[in-house]
Amino acid sequence: MKELVVLTGASSGIGLEMARELATKGIDLILVARRMDILQNIKTELESLFRIKVTIISKDLSKPESAKELYDEIKSQKLIVTGLINNAGFGNYGDFSETPLAEDLNMIQVNVATMVSLTKLFLIDMKAISRGRIMNIASLLSFLPFPYYSVYSATKAFVLAFTETLAAELEGSGVIVTALCPGPIDTGFNTSEMLKTNAYKTNKPMDPKVVAKQGIELFLNGKGKKIVGFNNWFISNLPRITPDRIMMKIKKNLASIKS
Ligand SMILES: NC(=O)c1ccc[n+]([C@@H]2O[C@H](COP(=O)([O-])OP(=O)(O)OC[C@H]3O[C@@H](n4cnc5c(N)ncnc54)[C@H](OP(=O)(O)O)[C@@H]3O)[C@@H](O)[C@H]2O)c1
Repeated sequence: MKELVVLTGASSGIGLEMARELATKGIDLILVARRMDILQNIKTELESLFRIKVTIISKDLSKPESAKELYDEIKSQKLIVTGLINNAGFGNYGDFSETPLAEDLNMIQVNVATMVSLTKLFLIDMKAISRGRIMNIASLLSFLPFPYYSVYSATKAFVLAFTETLAAELEGSGVIVTALCPGPIDTGFNTSEMLKTNAYKTNKPMDPKVVAKQGIELFLNGKGKKIVGFNNWFISNLPRITPDRIMMKIKKNLASIKS
């Protein structure tokens, strides 16, 4: 059976680079995002460079019904999915009392609820054939929730906890679930405000190609979780050795914008 991977958030950033990386390995793809024109260009690029089939589906994953619609659309094409990468996601930055509630709730839907729904739908089929790989994109903030990223940090803590527990449940089932935990990456994710924070000045965003390469290595051959970059691995461990009170001060300083 030929590998076929569903990759959400494939129109830009690490999603686009992971699509390119999977294509170099001759893996067929189902690419999902809202921007169809960009997906069409990616399909043309990848199919002309590699001997693969790329299916593109435009879907707004902030809609509660989107995961089931996506799953049904794929099933109706009689495609057998062997891999799923839940990469689509976004964050916002600011005082929780000031960020629009609708945006916070959309974020929870995309980063958490749709990710859970897609995982359940495709996992059931993968378990039935005792084969499959699922990778969820968590974050450095899964380990150290940052002020001014309250909802985003919480969604990514969820992603990591969910993925790690699922990985343990699925041991020996033939289905492997992993979590990629990047620190800052140079993508459209970062708003101009985020880029002004001390965190981005002290921990320079990584090249999305580098993160994608490590992500695909984890997805295809790895187990467990991967924190991308030594710097980020070191930072992720700080809460273990630093009292909460001090840690929160450090995080607040890093997440602030220096005037
Ligand atoms: N950049 C970082 O510093 C960083 C660090 C750690 C983790 N991450 C995580 O990495 C993942 C990818 O982010 P990125 O940095 O590559 O950002 P990005 O360049 O902004 O890409 C985000 C992708 O998600 C898709 N997406 C967003 N909202 C969507 C929606 N409602 N429905 C369908 N697709 C949607 C976007 O496609 P459309 O706009 O075309 O729909 C795009 O393809 C996210 O889960 C993010 O939380 C990023």
